[in-house]
Order: sequence, then structure tokens, then C-alpha cells
Amino acid sequence: MKIKLEYDDKKDLNEFYKNIQPISIKKKKKQHINKLFFGENITILKSLIEDFGLEGKIDLIYIDPPFATNNIFTFSEGRSNTISNSKNDEVAYTDTLREEKFLEFIRERVFLLHKLLSDEGSLYLHIDYKIGHYVKIILDEVFGIEHFRNDICRIKCNPKNFKRKGYGNIKDLVLFYTKTDKMIWNEPKSPYTERDIEKLFPKTDEDGRKYTTIPLHAPGETKNGSSSKKFLGIDPPKGRHWRSDVKVLEEWNNQGLIEWSSNGNPRKKIYSDEQEGKRVQDIWEFKDPQYPKYPTEKNIEMLDLIIKTSSNEESIVLDCFSGSGTTIMSSLRNNRHFIGIDKSKEAINVIKKRIEEEKIGNIFQSNFDYDFYDLSETLIN
Ligand SMILES: C[S@@+](CC[C@H](N)C(=O)[O-])C[C@H]1O[C@@H](n2cnc3c(N)ncnc32)[C@H](O)[C@@H]1O
Repeated sequence: MKIKLEYDDKKDLNEFYKNIQPISIKKKKKQHINKLFFGENITILKSLIEDFGLEGKIDLIYIDPPFATNNIFTFSEGRSNTISNSKNDEVAYTDTLREEKFLEFIRERVFLLHKLLSDEGSLYLHIDYKIGHYVKIILDEVFGIEHFRNDICRIKCNPKNFKRKGYGNIKDLVLFYTKTDKMIWNEPKSPYTERDIEKLFPKTDEDGRKYTTIPLHAPGETKNGSSSKKFLGIDPPKGRHWRSDVKVLEEWNNQGLIEWSSNGNPRKKIYSDEQEGKRVQDIWEFKDPQYPKYPTEKNIEMLDLIIKTSSNEESIVLDCFSGSGTTIMSSLRNNRHFIGIDKSKEAINVIKKRIEEEKIGNIFQSNFDYDFYDLSETLIN
């Protein structure tokens, strides 16, 4: 990547890595793969690489860092707020790093995350429209622009009537990168709506099933092979070949899966109820919870989609800005291992509570067990 962002105090990343202070972690005797850390993520990420031997072992990382919003997010009994309106509110976390300081903050962490990713690994970074385009260039630098996959537009809320001049903002973005081209990819499908079915499967058979038809032939002639032979006495049209072996076509015909037009042209029937759904596109609507357990808590169904698509059972999923632990909860419910990090005591309390609550309905499942590390000594402020 030739294009680079220039700003003051941009560090040499190898120097930066060397200068990260090591921490002494007392590892548990019998370690669980699942881990939750309370502390500063930079030091902990380096420790995951050097002390826990996890370099190249993480299949999926989702992060939702602060967005450089200059807000202080607070938290009072059962409610989370952006701006504190009561003296008794606890600060959940502050988001006060601005401009290049923020970009450098992200760059350092993304550098460490890239080391932790496996060759099949993916990173999803959640950010907003104000700073997101600069962050994209930072990610291109670290991952290589050839490993940029998508800039997903996430509809986050209903339209609002802001007084500010300009169009209302109802989206943020999720930048998706992979370490290599061999990434884990379980093609996601979303169910057809009734409107899709009407549009894509306009025909109805005698049993009331909706279907459409597609041609039985494809461009190009094959000289030998059975896809160039006669099917019920008919040659494929000039310059084309049958899509399947003639024996398969005959079998389909016997099963009533071929529709013949009035001029004798055969087409294959495709039934809507046999399709898994449609391809997922890069505009997602996942509104966040109306009554969040923690400020900026994300929609768990969005995490389910990311985790199912870009990891496998037994994969380790990492979130070093865990907040209320949405990534952790989704990992658990999709049978993945998790590593969570957060520097907010409030966040850690919410995560522990969520895991405990989830465990109640799953008492025989051991995948809820995890090691907790209190590394509050890594916190500078
Ligand atoms: C936007 S919130 C994450 C919300 C989360 N995705 C959820 O669904 O609840 C960002 C979190 O990052 C944490 N954080 C910010 N800087 C950090 C750092 N340097 N080390 C560890 N955690 C950090 C904050 O405490 C906060 O909980």
C-alpha cells in the first residue's frame, strides 16, 4: 500500500512493540481457553502473544472501540447514559482522545491484533462516519488494501430529527479485513421476504408451491462429454451445452422438475422453499438495544452473523474493547471460545453478570467456564 496517513507523533510500530512494558501474569494451573481480562488492552494483547502463545491463533476479532466522540459514558443503576446527569452516576468509560491521537491509539492496537490473527482470521472494526474513513487508511496500512473485504453500512437507529444542518445520521460502519485470502467464510443467507418470493419466484405449481425456471443450457460447446449429447432427442442450442449430464436431466424430467414451454424449450424449476435464502449484502439493519445494560451496547444478532460467518466452532473470538460483552455472549451461544478485555470495572461487572445469567439455562455446558485476570495495575488512569 503506497498511500499512507501522515500525522504528528506517528510511531515506528516495531519500536512501539518493543517498548510495551511486560506484565507478570500468574497463569492459572489448569487454563481455560476462555479468558476475561480487566486492564489496558495494549499490555494484555502483547501478553497474549508472548506469554499465552496465541500469536496466529485467533480466528476472529470484533472490536468496537471508542469513536473519538469526546463523550463521557456513564452508568447508573440499570441505565446507561451518554452524558452524566446525576452526581451518583459511575463513569463507564471516557471517549476523549481526538484526531491523530485517536488514530495512533487504533493503529497500535490493530498492529497487535494483526499478529494475533490466524491465517484464516478476520477482523471486523466498528466505527462511525466521522472518523471511520481515516481508520480505513490505517487498516489498509496494517493489513494491506488487498485484504480489505467490505465497508459494511450498519443502520443503527430510527431516523431522528436533529437540528444540525445536513442529512440525518442513522448508520455507522463496520470495516471488514482478513489476514489472507484463505479466511474462514461460512456463506451467510438471509431468509426471503414475501416480497422477494413474489418477485423472484413468480410461478405457482398445482400444489401451491412458488417457483421460477432457469435455462437448462449454458454458453460454450463441449465436444465430448455427456453435456453435449441429445436430451430426449434435442441437441443443446448452437454454441451452448447442457448445464448437467444428460442422465441427470432425464432424472429431473421424470421427477417433474423440468417445465416445457409451448415451443418445446425445457427449463429447470427452482422452488422457493428449497432455497436457503438470499445472499447477505453490505447494508445491515441491526438496531441497538433500547435499554442497554451498558453504554453503546451493540445488537447481539449482528455479532451472531459475524461470528457464524467468519469463525467455526472451536475458533477463538477476541474482543479487546468488550464493553458489556456482546461479542462474548454471542461466542458462547454459538459454541466458540472467547477472549474479552476491558479496562472499565463497570464493563467487567456487566460481562460477569451476563455470563452468570446465561449459565443458569445451560448448567451442564462447560464452555461457559473462563479464567478471569485482574490486571488493573496496567491501567494508567
Ligand atoms: C464502545 S464500548 C464497547 C461496547 C461493546 N461492543 C458492547 O456491545 O457492549 C468500548 C469499550 O472499550 C473499553 N476501552 C476503551 N479503551 C480501552 C483500552 N485501552 N483497553 C481496554 N478497554 C478499553 C471501554 O471501557 C468500553 O467499555
